[in-house]
Amino acid sequence: MSTASDFLTNDHRECDALWAKVEAAADGGDLAATRAAFVAFDKSMQRHFEFEEKTLFPAIEQATGMSGFGPTAVMRSEHEQMRRILATMTTALESGDTGSLLDHGDTLLMVIQQHNVKEERILYPIADARVGGEWAALRAGWVE
Ligand SMILES: [Fe+2]
Repeated sequence: MSTASDFLTNDHRECDALWAKVEAAADGGDLAATRAAFVAFDKSMQRHFEFEEKTLFPAIEQATGMSGFGPTAVMRSEHEQMRRILATMTTALESGDTGSLLDHGDTLLMVIQQHNVKEERILYPIADARVGGEWAALRAGWVE
């Protein structure tokens, strides 16, 4: 059984790989493939956010007594920021504008990288230390 850190860090890498597929399809000028790749990427990002917000963060908040402030509150607000960018990207793709998709993708990637560093260096170690014993039960909430 992997730790929360291992599992969620690996999922960050998988999301990054799905974004690389979106870029490759858009660079190749294939709109249908770009749309399909984006749907997979968006789904994977939303799943990650939802698992953290509904399962992992509440457990950390309960264990540490920090909610409405502290690391999970910052992460929640960054998720909202990324959701807004993803929504803008969805709109761009609906109108077939892959240039705009990639421009917003650059912004998103910067936000993702900074967010992931914070989670991987600060939040996931807190998760391992404070709710590591519950990880098997928490992990069961992950939708495959
Ligand atoms: Fe996150």
